[in-house]
Amino acid sequence: MILKNIWLFPIAYCDAAEPWQLGFQDAATPMMQGIIDLHHDIFFFLIIILISVLWMLVRALWHFHYKRNPIPERIVHGTTIEIIWTIFPSIISMFIAIPSFALLYSMDEVVDPTITIKAIGHQWYWTYEYSDYNSSDEQSLTFDSYMIPEDDSELGQLRLLEVDNRVVIPARTHLRMIITPADVLHSWAVPSLGVKCDAVPGRLNQTSIFIKREGVYYGQCSEICGTNHAFMPIVVEAVSLDDYVSWVSNKLD
Ligand code: CUA
Repeated sequence: MILKNIWLFPIAYCDAAEPWQLGFQDAATPMMQGIIDLHHDIFFFLIIILISVLWMLVRALWHFHYKRNPIPERIVHGTTIEIIWTIFPSIISMFIAIPSFALLYSMDEVVDPTITIKAIGHQWYWTYEYSDYNSSDEQSLTFDSYMIPEDDSELGQLRLLEVDNRVVIPARTHLRMIITPADVLHSWAVPSLGVKCDAVPGRLNQTSIFIKREGVYYGQCSEICGTNHAFMPIVVEAVSLDDYVSWVSNKLD
């Protein structure tokens, strides 16, 4: 957990789910920042709509109660109000659609990546392949990543979230993730990174990641894939470029 000092208070980033958590995990990529911003943007309109609809509902229930209003009005049509409640929601929809599309298309963009990592979903673990490097026997760097079972987990390790082999990647580097399964549908999802990408049999899905700070990011398979769906977590460890280079060279020999 990285501590950051803002306004005299040290703050620990939340990069794993917490009990009773209601909000988002802290963003570690521009993508997740964009998602959180859009959520807040839309929430603003949501609160306005919620309050005005509730107000109208309560007012109508109050004023048209049979005791207060024994003889009902026969009005069935009101041009002015109908124009208002058609135009107004369409304007709100525009205010939501424009930033939403801007985010959607910018997330879809693949910025010329430095490293490509392939995540392969299996029942029920992930395999990671670093296809940019070859070891001495001409095999690309591959390893499996299994969840640490509850009985084996050590003090401080997160239950059902920790894995034996983490995905180590450099921070502040443009990465391309390629996601695919070897059997059924899975989904590679890490909330802090703003990534949730389905692994579809016979397809390679692609997404880009740019992690802004070093840290350990926890995620889970997010597509129901069988009995052990809940037990194939994802742990991404973002390190400095130097640490990454030594990690890779250790793995290769
Ligand atoms: Cu793999 Cu759910």
